[in-house]
Formats: sequence, C-alpha cells, structure tokens
Amino acid sequence: METLQNERQMKSSSEDFLPINGTDYVELYVSNALQSAHYFQNAFGFQPLAMAGLETGLNDRESYVVVQGKIRLVLTSPLHGGTDIGQHIDLHGDGVKVIALWVEDARKAFQETTSRGGKAYMEPIRETDDQGEVLRSGIHTYGDTVHVFVERKNYNGVFLPGFVPWNPEHRPSPVGLEYIDHMVGNVGWNEMNTWVSFYERVMGFTTMASFDDKDISTQYTALMSKVMSNGNGRIKFPINEPAEGKKKSQVEEYLEFYGGAGVQHIAVATHDILATVGKLKERGVTFLKIPGTYYEELVSRVGEIDEDLAELRELGILVDRDDEGYLLQIFTQPIMPRPTLFFEIIQRKGAKSFGKGNFKALFEAIEREQMQRGTL
Ligand code: FE2
Repeated sequence: METLQNERQMKSSSEDFLPINGTDYVELYVSNALQSAHYFQNAFGFQPLAMAGLETGLNDRESYVVVQGKIRLVLTSPLHGGTDIGQHIDLHGDGVKVIALWVEDARKAFQETTSRGGKAYMEPIRETDDQGEVLRSGIHTYGDTVHVFVERKNYNGVFLPGFVPWNPEHRPSPVGLEYIDHMVGNVGWNEMNTWVSFYERVMGFTTMASFDDKDISTQYTALMSKVMSNGNGRIKFPINEPAEGKKKSQVEEYLEFYGGAGVQHIAVATHDILATVGKLKERGVTFLKIPGTYYEELVSRVGEIDEDLAELRELGILVDRDDEGYLLQIFTQPIMPRPTLFFEIIQRKGAKSFGKGNFKALFEAIEREQMQRGTL
C-alpha cells in the first residue's frame, strides 16, 4: 500500500497542478472557543498547542489550537458582536469554516485554482514572526466553507505567525486519533454534480467512488454520494446530496439546521479502534446506537476478522469489507445542539472504501434518532 501510494505520488507530482501534502488544519467557528477547546481536550484527547487572542494583539477574535497525531483543530470565536464570524455562527451554529490544505506553494495553488474558476477567499498573504514565514491563500467551496492553502516550509513556529504556545496544566491523555481520513460535505438538492465538477475542474480531483439511492436508502430516506480524491489520494472529500425518499433524509435535516451546505462529518483514523472508542466512551463521547441484530449477520457478511465480535458489539463498532480488506468504523452523535456536525472514528485494515455495507444499518440508526428529534 505504501509503495502504491508513493507511485501515485510520483505520478501526481508531474501531472497534478495542485499537489497537496495533507490536511493542514480544520478551523471551526464556535460560540465559545475556550469551552470548545476544553471539550476536544477532555472528550477526544486533543493536546493544547497554540492560541491567539487579546493577549497576542488580536482584537476581533480568539483562537485555540489543539492537536492529536497529525490532526490540528482551530477553534475560533469572535470577541464582539456584529462580526463575520458571529454571523457564521448565528446562521450555521458551531461548524467547520476552513478546511486548510498543506501545499508547497500557496501562490501557485491560488493561481491554478482561481484561473480554473475557483472563487478567491484569501489572496496570497505572507505572514511572518521570529520563527519564519507562512504563505496562505484560499478559495471558496460549498456553502460558506473555504479551502485555505498553507505553505509552511520556511516556518518553525508552533502553528502560524501570530500564535503563541498554549500550555495549560490540564492535559488529558490522547486516545489514539492519528490523521484525518476523509471529510464529508453535504450539499443541496441536485448540487452534488456541481461540486463534483468543482473538485475535478478547479482542484484536479477525481471521483474514486460513487453511491446512488439504491446503495444508500432505507425504508424512509435516501441520499447520493460521490467520493472526490486528490492526485496522491491523501485528501478524500465525499460529497452527499439528498435523494427522494418517503421522509426527510438526514442530509435534508442537516441542510435545514445548518442553513445550507457544509461539512457533515470528519473521519479520523486510529490504529486501534477498540482502545480508542473505549477511551472516548469513558470520557463521555456518545455514539450512534447499533441494534444487536447487526452483529448476528456480521460474520456471514464480512467473513473472518481479527477482532472479538463481543467487544465490537459492546462498543457498537461497525465492520465492512471490500476487495482489498476490511474497515472498522463508528459514528458519534452530533457534537452540538443542532443535528449537524459529527465525527467518525475509522480503522482501515486494507479496505480503501467507506463502509457501503454499513450504510443501511447506520441510516436506520440515524432515523431512530431523527424520530426522537421529531425531524423525520
Ligand atoms: Fe465517513
């Protein structure tokens, strides 16, 4: 797999007009960044990394940066009323504003994408401090979400210029989250192909998988999904749109509560999902409940697996298999009052797919919760 990735990478460096090293950070606009950072530390085991705010000379916002493995989350709140950040929170609730991508050349990334029709969000800007310089630029994607390109090869600081180390004494231990496997966007009716072609045309991504309402439907609801991937396969963005069903689908519910298109879930990888999920549960993270019947059919569906079935059932972890191996996954409940953003924990054992065989069980679980919310 490593070799394959390297080959794809080498191939991509000659052909790919937007080479991306990986996800740089994900910034959420939240109403209380301090409490949000505390939540991600305590519940998810993120470690405090950096902060910027009044004491660093900012007067409009405060941000806390937390890290676990290669995953950096930036939690930002406005310091006054009437700000763009505040409007974003009013419209969407707490949610993902920036999916930042680590590139070697942020100016080129901006030129290549905007010349292909990407709408400018941030003209290339050079930020410096005594640790060096970072260049950033950015374009808009679906809804109010943006991509920021980060060039940090000449920077040694803790996060970005303007940020200082954040060193609270309270440091709950990590839970084994390693990197972002994929991030899913929900878009409006009939908009999936618009955004698929945006990622193809503007960012040079390709479609690695596609699901229609026959794959992803239950008695009540349906959705369609296409998985977009960049040249070296490090960035994967599935895009969902609702499909006609008997009742309101989870994507429709999302769009209604989020006030339009946005990030639905962040899937984070672990090498030991049993240990990771066990720790998350101990710390109060709540997951979608999967009926016991799911496990009765599991072995006949996915065959032999290394994990103990009883342990999987106890934790509610799902399993799916494709041609290359299998994967284990579990989904949190939405992490805010609006039924919008949630997390997925995923462990891949060869499989490169997204758990298609689990969609039905999963959506039925979501529908039971929608029913409880009265939004189905
Ligand atoms: Fe996912």
